[in-house]
Amino acid sequence: MNFETININQEGAILTVTINRPRKLNALSIKVLTEMKILLKTIREKNEFDIKGMILTGAGDKAFIAGADIKEMSQMNPREGENFGKLGQEVTTLFEALPIPIIACVNGYALGGGCEMAMACDFIYASQQAAFGQPEVSLGLIPGFGGCVRLLRFVGAGKAKELIYSGKIVGAVEAKEIGLVNRIFKTKTEMFEAAHEVLELMFTKSPIAISICKKVINAVDGENINDGLEIEKQGFRESFESPEKIEGVAAFLEKRKPVFNQSLIPTFQKRA
Ligand code: CAA
Repeated sequence: MNFETININQEGAILTVTINRPRKLNALSIKVLTEMKILLKTIREKNEFDIKGMILTGAGDKAFIAGADIKEMSQMNPREGENFGKLGQEVTTLFEALPIPIIACVNGYALGGGCEMAMACDFIYASQQAAFGQPEVSLGLIPGFGGCVRLLRFVGAGKAKELIYSGKIVGAVEAKEIGLVNRIFKTKTEMFEAAHEVLELMFTKSPIAISICKKVINAVDGENINDGLEIEKQGFRESFESPEKIEGVAAFLEKRKPVFNQSLIPTFQKRA
């Protein structure tokens, strides 16, 4: 299979999928998400690679994935924004639907949609250079690829709210402390070696038993997660309807700080 924005490399039973737009910090454009969806659906429907495990990573040394493509989002109306969110959510759900272990190997920024892709994998390994966050509120947006729902699952409601409301970016050590990251490695090479090693260990166990464990663990609160994803999809659309999205996204593209209207607090206004 040939793709323009993702590389795939198979070593034995392990498929490494690398998002390959390093000059744009591997931002998730419609093209990237569409290619990922095709790849994951092909693997799920006819395991043509005959793989037992996967690694997701990003090209270059600076980023795993720095989020959804902000330039593309700047051109989207609310309906297109909703469809974009749906596409991103579909990709995250496909990772969870694959009956094999999947590890996110994060070297550099895993922000917004990038953090969301990492959390759709089974667990996360990080290099010392890794940094995580859901900075969407800086853009007048909300996490739209399952971040509101899955960050809650990884770190609990309090930490999830602190990170999402503040848009704060945390390093690998703090990400491990709050339970987002399983292990930290000095170098990228050590991280990939450890990911291969743990997958090889898993390959000595029953693949059917592992696939059932994955289904059961992901099904805990599964219905709530599906409900949450639906609510998040509507919320993502709603954020595209707000003037704050226009300001936030324009500020990023113009490389300046956004100026948000602090007197605009819609819910309070409705209640008054
Ligand atoms: N979308 C599109 N382009 C992006 C991008 C993104 N998410 N992140 C970085 N880029 C581009 C930059 O525009 C820049 O392109 P140009 O060279 O053409 O100007 C290039 O990648 C390099 O980035 P910077 O010059 O900004 O690099 P830096 O080292 O100064 O900063 C950074 C790095 C802090 C990660 C900064 O790039 C940044 O803040 N990126 C955006 C992070 C973000 O807000 N992500 C969330 C996106 S919204 C989302 O993901 C919604 C969702 O839930 C679905």
